[in-house]
This record gives sequence, structure tokens and C-alpha cells, in this order.
Amino acid sequence: MENPFNREAENLGNITGLEHLNVEIPDQGLASDFYLLGMGFTRDPYLFPGTNNMWVNIGKNQIHMPAGPPLVFRGHVGIVSPDREALLERLNGVKKQLADTKFKFKEHNAYVSATCPWGNKFHVYSPDEERFGKINLGIPYVEFAVPEGTAKGIARFYRKVLGAITCIEKNGEGKAAHIKVGPNQELIFRETDKELVEFDGHHLQVYVEDFGRPHEKLRKLDLITEESDRCQYRFEDIVDLDTGKVLFTIEHEIRSMTHPLYARPLVNRNPAQTNRNYIMGGDGWVPTLTDTVGPAGPRGDPLTAAKAPTIAKKRALRAQAQAM
Ligand SMILES: [Fe+2]
Repeated sequence: MENPFNREAENLGNITGLEHLNVEIPDQGLASDFYLLGMGFTRDPYLFPGTNNMWVNIGKNQIHMPAGPPLVFRGHVGIVSPDREALLERLNGVKKQLADTKFKFKEHNAYVSATCPWGNKFHVYSPDEERFGKINLGIPYVEFAVPEGTAKGIARFYRKVLGAITCIEKNGEGKAAHIKVGPNQELIFRETDKELVEFDGHHLQVYVEDFGRPHEKLRKLDLITEESDRCQYRFEDIVDLDTGKVLFTIEHEIRSMTHPLYARPLVNRNPAQTNRNYIMGGDGWVPTLTDTVGPAGPRGDPLTAAKAPTIAKKRALRAQAQAM
């Protein structure tokens, strides 16, 4: 049968979703002003409602922020958020309260860069279906700066050990390993000749379909750092599979898709909603754009097609018999 569709294009590889990032923060007030007021994200209302931790929802993604000395990602986090003007207005609005911190932001052609009070960097893009898929709010990628000569080995590690779909891209910004970690989601490891700061213990979390085999491979490489529970383990080092040399370090929280929190619905608010400018029913934000499976493909005549679906064929024969 004729197939007009690109079936490979829907493949995810073994890593099926990047869900949360985790950085410790020393001050929940400053974090609220930046992440909630400035960036327009939403504090998770159900889990960790106290001062020891806060979860911040960004579409289907989250950043977890336990209280502690600040942790900083070694690169930047890609964010999709609609309405650049409203974003800039919100960021302008928190300048005063964040004046004595590392907070800053700048408008570029392709994105708005914003830095949290402790130095985590974000590139905020407008929705772009081609690049980021059908979302208007979320984390489509995390980009790490990695030592020169490591991109290829990093891609190989994710492919061979985690079963991820990977590729190497080289452009004006340098050589980078792209690791598919969900629909329109990537980890990007971009080579740099600049000196890197030491890893401080922040982490990212992904879901994997094959949970057991990667664990076995990581265990043989002696890379498992935590056997968390039935549905989770952790590792930190990404190594060269020939030499064992550590290429880059970032803590990975690996969860099975049977984890109780998998696909948990996340509350997102509409940051434009205020008590003085109120729309009834407008409190929530739908973080996805309309998605479609596209036009239907050809379906052969069930009475004559060689591979006719049995039920469709029976139905057609029954209708034919009734008509006689
Ligand atoms: Fe986590």
C-alpha cells in the first residue's frame, strides 16, 4: 500500500521526555520574583507548598528548587513563551527587587536572554512549531558548554548506553552533540574552548522506555550514583566508551515510564490575568498549540485490497449483503 507518511519522523528513541531540571536556591522570595513574576511561570500548587522547596511549572516541564546554596547549569536553558512584549514588561517589573543579584535580561533577534538571581541562563523564544513543536510554553532544550573534542563521544555514550537518537551538528557556534530527549526536545552539548566551572550538583530528569538495559550498562561501567527507588536511578558522568575518560558531568535522574509521576498534569496560570484587569475563566494557560495528525492517508477498497482490515472487510460485506 502506498505510504505518504514519514514514519521515522515520529520516533523518539529510548528517552521519551525531559521533564524537570533541579537547582537549589538560597532565597525563595527572590526566586519567586524572577521565576513567577518575571518569567511568568507557575508555582506548583500541590507539591512542596512550603519554604524548603518549590516546584515551578513551565508547560509540561518543571524546575525544582529545593532550598540550599545556589546551583547553576553550565550552559543555558531554552524556554518557549508567547508574547515577547509581555515578557519584557514583566522582567522590567522585577528589576528593582532583583537589583543586588545576578539578574539581567536582554533582547536579541531570536530570543530574550534572562539570567536568574544566581546565574542560571535562559533563552526565551517565541513559539515556533517547526523548531519546538506544538507548544507555547515549555522547555524544548538544555544546552551545555563542553570541552573541545568531546561532542562525538558524548553522542556515542547516549546512543549506546541510553538508546537515544543522536546527531552531531557543526555550525558557526561550534560542534555540538544533539540528543533527542522527547518530542521536539533535545540536550545539546556544544564544544567550547573556554574554561568550564566545576560541576556543582544540579540535575535533570528524563523518562526512558527501556529502563533495565541502560541501567545494566551503566552498572557495568560503574557509573550508577544512586539506586533511588523502584522507578528511578541516577548517574553523573558521561564517559568515552573506549577509554573510560569522563567527557562531561551532569547528574541524570533516570525514571521509568511506570513512575507514578509520569505525565502528571501540571497547573499553568495565565500571567496576564490580574485582579484589576480580569477575564472570567482566563486564569489558566493552555501550554500546547493545536496539534493534528494531518490529512488521512489512502485506504484501499476493503472488498478488494489485499491487506484489507478484517473488521472493515466484514462490515463492508455485511452492508453489501443487507443491500441485496
Ligand atoms: Fe529531580
